[in-house]
Amino acid sequence: MEVGIDGIEVWSGKLKLDLPGTLAPERGEDPEKYTKGLGVKESSLPDAHEDIVTMGANAALRLMKRKDLEPEDISRIDVATETSFDNSKPVSTYITGCLEKVYGRGRFKNANQGERKFACISATQAIEDACNWIRAGVNNGKKALVISSDVALYERGDPGEPTQGAGAVALLISKDPNVVEIEKEQGYGAADETDFLKPYSYFPSVDGKRSIEVYLDRMREALEDYERKAGRVTKDGFARATFHTPFPKMSRKAAVLGFRHTIKDTEIEEELAGQIGKIPREDDYENYKQFEEELEEYTNNLGETEIFRDWYEQVVEPTIQLAALTGNWYTGSVHIARVSALLEAQKNGKEMEDKSLLVGSYGSGAQAEIHSERICKKWKNEMEELNIEEMLDNRYDLDFDEYKEVRKVHNYSEEADVESLTEPNDEFVFAGHGSMGERVYEFA
Ligand code: HMG
Repeated sequence: MEVGIDGIEVWSGKLKLDLPGTLAPERGEDPEKYTKGLGVKESSLPDAHEDIVTMGANAALRLMKRKDLEPEDISRIDVATETSFDNSKPVSTYITGCLEKVYGRGRFKNANQGERKFACISATQAIEDACNWIRAGVNNGKKALVISSDVALYERGDPGEPTQGAGAVALLISKDPNVVEIEKEQGYGAADETDFLKPYSYFPSVDGKRSIEVYLDRMREALEDYERKAGRVTKDGFARATFHTPFPKMSRKAAVLGFRHTIKDTEIEEELAGQIGKIPREDDYENYKQFEEELEEYTNNLGETEIFRDWYEQVVEPTIQLAALTGNWYTGSVHIARVSALLEAQKNGKEMEDKSLLVGSYGSGAQAEIHSERICKKWKNEMEELNIEEMLDNRYDLDFDEYKEVRKVHNYSEEADVESLTEPNDEFVFAGHGSMGERVYEFA
């Protein structure tokens, strides 16, 4: 049985922060550090009436309407977020509460609902659990919704500030999917790490430089584990390689390490030997530091070779185009990278049916997961329906004072009182707090 992602909808926060133009001068940083160093251009941020519930519900509503679904067609709803505001009531019941304002109260009463955290790996886990639920034949003919929704803000002045973002991705999981079939093999790399965490705080505590190393270490472990289960990954085995993309240059760092891994002990390594030498092997060094330095030098040189650049341009570059405009959506990150890859192919008339995607999910704390997906026959029709580019174009362009002001409302404080900068139109909005401190929503 083929099981996987049948439909996708994306909802971006309705505000835009121009990173090189507006943020860089205020932080006293060179705009090229953002555009060239990190690979970012813009961040999506939420307006005052938006939050993880409204963005998730808006993405889900659009998906349900487009796929002509009734609430009774769905009996499993998982929401992935790292920006939750309640330790008991899950975001999923807030979201179905919103959806029932449109479809009618009680319509989701038989849906199994939950909430997960672990950046985009948590949404990947939810997708895989939903696929297994369908494969096991216990879904009674029903489908699953997986929604990732985050407002990824850092402290003002934090090095992470240029990587902020906010938005939601809704994914419909079913048999005979239109977009991608999820393959069964998964590779994992996990460790107890404390480089990025939010210990009951709104803003994260981050050791940014270490977080990059931890990401790459876990991704390497996941790739090795994946190969043990699915066989060796080759340079040409996948049409696209999508990674968790906190900022686009992070995917490039992962890509060059992955590429180095795929060429080890192959003809390509031999062919490149005259130009950049061979990949240093640990056994050839008595001094580990020297081995590490030479491996780093080899990797930097590999990144400059024509064969890597051509591969990168075709296999990875299309996956990071949206992230440069949206910023990091934590739980949505690799799921935006998948959309970016397929949208670029659809716009440029590239044929993707039956080709494979390598998908590298990641969550700080930390774990990476790698699996592959086969692109289905109707992938193009699904991409044609997306309006994410129009949404990004229509975002309200913040000046710096507006940016500082609107941030105040997104720490979930009941005192914050900030006017919206955009007019809600046919969407769910945050409408204040109820008597028990709950957040209240309306369809505007
Ligand atoms: P930073 O210290 O501001 O930046 O922090 P930098 O000095 O390291 O510079 C960044 C890059 O720009 C460097 O390139 C510089 O050389 C270059 P690299 O050496 O990396 O190739 N650069 C320039 N290039 C051109 N012109 C210039 C210039 N100046 C410098 N003038 C950092 C950067 C990413 C650490 C920071 O933004 C941060 O802390 N971000 C948040 C943490 C993060 O995103 N970590 C990524 C891995 S962890 C992860 O992905 C999980 C996460 O999503 C959380 C979760 O959901 O679980 C974050």
